[in-house]
Amino acid sequence: MEIIDSSKVCIAKCPHGLEEILVEELRGLGVEEAMQHKRAVAFKADKEMLYKINLHSRLAIKILCPMFEFFAKHPEELYKKVKAFDWSEVLSLDQTFAIQTTVNSEHFTHSQYVALKAKDAIVDQFYDRVNKRPDVDPKHPHIKIHIHINDKECTVFLDSSGDSLFKRGYRVHTGIAPINEVLAAGMLVLSGWDPTTPLIDPMCGSGTIVIEAAMMATNTPPGILREEFGFMNWPDYDAELWEKVRKEGIAQIKKSEAQIFASDKALSVLKYAEQNAAEIELDEVIEFKRKDFMHLDAPAEGGMIITNPPYDERIEIEDNEAFYKAIGDQFKQSYQGYTAWLISSNLSAIKRVGLRPSKKITLFNGKLECKFLKYELYSGSKKAKHAQQD
Ligand SMILES: C[S@@+](CC[C@H](N)C(=O)[O-])C[C@H]1O[C@@H](n2cnc3c(N)ncnc32)[C@H](O)[C@@H]1O
Repeated sequence: MEIIDSSKVCIAKCPHGLEEILVEELRGLGVEEAMQHKRAVAFKADKEMLYKINLHSRLAIKILCPMFEFFAKHPEELYKKVKAFDWSEVLSLDQTFAIQTTVNSEHFTHSQYVALKAKDAIVDQFYDRVNKRPDVDPKHPHIKIHIHINDKECTVFLDSSGDSLFKRGYRVHTGIAPINEVLAAGMLVLSGWDPTTPLIDPMCGSGTIVIEAAMMATNTPPGILREEFGFMNWPDYDAELWEKVRKEGIAQIKKSEAQIFASDKALSVLKYAEQNAAEIELDEVIEFKRKDFMHLDAPAEGGMIITNPPYDERIEIEDNEAFYKAIGDQFKQSYQGYTAWLISSNLSAIKRVGLRPSKKITLFNGKLECKFLKYELYSGSKKAKHAQQD
């Protein structure tokens, strides 16, 4: 069975706040029409484009392909309609599967129960036909099924990505509070950074922001290290076409012209950052230095800072307001002429930076609602005019 059908609408899921830039990214990859939804973008793609998006998207978390849709008002009806689809077309007895649900309906109040009924429907169909059933593997299934219910409208998708796309494969070591790779890439795109501008993450932890930047600067496809995608377990998998898409992705990797600086006061995590960058052969593109930000001189005349300081959530800070004040003081004293972007969930501490942000974007770091703030660190008279207390 051909699962990928270019006349049907696929869904690229993304974190809150990245929808608009994901539309742009998909268009840049060659998608003709892309429509923004809440935490998702809808688009159409043929098989080659779907493989390409899985390899190249920095901003999508997963790409879902629709299988069939129906109306249902209660779990028994859902069971019948899921059972009516011929599951042997997509799933074989030696493959495992898992079901995820997104439910927004007054008819279905327990998403776990929906998943259970759908699982029963699939398993019972196999039992009825061949007296055997495929196993469920919630952690690493061959076939990931998503069921979205919006009121009575139920859509069954297959997840073409398998493991989420933020699992690039380079981050083999992490500190206590690493940022999601897709969020880090999103912050870089939202900031408007381009590789001709020197970039610093002075609290780099395991290096996610700078490694994502180095991947952008070298045109490295974010999925290049991954050996597995969900679509590889589908009956319509075209290994030759995937090889072509992958080879084209490798061919477009270029030498970096960018100046990217990463530092952290903790040697252990800085080593992790270096090792992670080496994992994807980008350690030469980034300059690593162990240093307390409060004593770090600007490494270039001007440039951009993008950083994810401790929020006093997962990493505790002794006096978080004094810490954020010190960050602001250091911005003002040593980084005139720079643009600084900072993400934090600690709203009271952020105020102590003592600069007026010229942009505030709401993003989520996991479940934590954060602000991603832009500070223009003007030098000379402009600084005096703009860098006032908030
Ligand atoms: C939230 S973590 C950064 C996580 C990182 N974005 C990642 O993906 O792994 C904050 C980092 O700030 C570092 N840090 C805290 N105070 C610092 C300071 N004064 N100077 C430099 N680094 C500091 C910590 O060591 C920690 O690695």
